[in-house]
Amino acid sequence: MVDKKMLKALSEQVTKEFYSAYLYMSMASYLEDKVLPGIAKWMRVQAQEESCHALIIFNYICEQGCKAELGAIKAPPSDFKSVTEVFKHTVEHEKLVTASIHAIAELAIALKDHATKQFLEWFIKEQVEEENSSETMLRQVVRLEDEKALFLLDKEAGARLFALPLPLVGKI
Ligand SMILES: [Fe+2]
Ligand SMILES: [Fe+2]
Repeated sequence: MVDKKMLKALSEQVTKEFYSAYLYMSMASYLEDKVLPGIAKWMRVQAQEESCHALIIFNYICEQGCKAELGAIKAPPSDFKSVTEVFKHTVEHEKLVTASIHAIAELAIALKDHATKQFLEWFIKEQVEEENSSETMLRQVVRLEDEKALFLLDKEAGARLFALPLPLVGKI
């Protein structure tokens, strides 16, 4: 069992990860509408990863013998000014998620909750990758803003494949 405060923080993080998935689905929808199926696929994979993050935390709550308290998932924005704005928003959102994960890690340290601290290490590493991949996409989009270049990036981004995160292998 984890401390009540920790259960609340972990439960809220499950909701935040599902919101991330929802946000990226909304961005995928915008990109599909702009006839950029490759970049939309990149965003769909991003959304799948976020649902997995939610499940990993949900599984951990269950493994701790606790009951997750799932909150409401708010509606994501449905329109964006440009592809650049989509990726700016993605980078900002990932930074917020990193801060949220770090805050839970700090709570784990304060509570001397070594199990949760260790559990969160995968997420801390994952966020470094998430910030890096979204920043790379943003830099590429900014550099290739004209239509022809975006078309080329669309082909490359469409090659992204979904891989089940290691903590979920054999668990869903
Ligand atoms: Fe995530
Ligand atoms: Fe993420």
